[in-house]
Amino acid sequence: MTAHIIDGKAFAAGLGDRIAEGAAAFADRTGRAPGLAVVLVGSDPASEIYVRSKGLMARKLGMESFEHTLPAETTQDTLMALIAELNANEAVDGILVQLPLPDHLDSLQVIEAIDPAKDVDGLHPLSAGYLASGLPGLVSCTPLGCLMLLKDQLGSLSGLDAIVVGRSILVGKPMAQLLLAENCTVTMAHSRTADLAEKVGKADIVVAAVGRAEMIKGDWIKDGATVIDVGTSRVIRDGQKYLVGDVDFAAASEKARAITPVPGGVGPMTIMTLMHNTLIAAYRRKN
Ligand code: GUN
Repeated sequence: MTAHIIDGKAFAAGLGDRIAEGAAAFADRTGRAPGLAVVLVGSDPASEIYVRSKGLMARKLGMESFEHTLPAETTQDTLMALIAELNANEAVDGILVQLPLPDHLDSLQVIEAIDPAKDVDGLHPLSAGYLASGLPGLVSCTPLGCLMLLKDQLGSLSGLDAIVVGRSILVGKPMAQLLLAENCTVTMAHSRTADLAEKVGKADIVVAAVGRAEMIKGDWIKDGATVIDVGTSRVIRDGQKYLVGDVDFAAASEKARAITPVPGGVGPMTIMTLMHNTLIAAYRRKN
């Protein structure tokens, strides 16, 4: 079997069109655009690029973008005061604090201070609890994007065997909860999992989110499985720089029914699901 290559960029563009319509309808109804606040502390170049692209995308879709760039030496008190201000600001529907924060700052305290109604990153412990309890809340962006791609490929996921490799709070854990809510039978695997190849080989759905270049081998994949690769690692081969995922893409493409490429698969979905969450947060706060 040669896999269908899932075009995350095209899917995200289509989703963006629908979000722009939703944002325009929100503005018509309320007299203001949905607002997203993004907070960056320090000047990590990769984080600066992410933050800039989030602001650009928000504006492109007709939302208001509030960008707060603070120096690396910002104190916890200053950052907490900014979060309190954003929580109280009626024009702000979503708050995202770009991670990682500099080492001297307490990330958990910052995340816990965000109003869960504005937690568009889905990182607040209450957001995680809502998801685990099957209650409406905001779901972290990357797993939400993965789920959208899976449903687009497979329709109903009910009864399928899924494996999530990686147990981070940002991706692995919410991904497993989302698949469980779709009636998948979910295995959560991680760095200490025994017989990983065998477990991956039983899965109809593989979500790889460990951040280790090509650790999931093509011949582990079950014939006809759907593979979602969240990993992005930079590697240098024969003097050339490449971006690769957690899955050996070329070999897995010979076994899978459908697979996301890196880049161009999950990546473009993450920013678009952030916009989706901002729109949802805006409507929920108005109702
Ligand atoms: N840094 C890398 N990915 C993310 C993300 O999804 N959210 C936040 N807040 N920071 C990140």
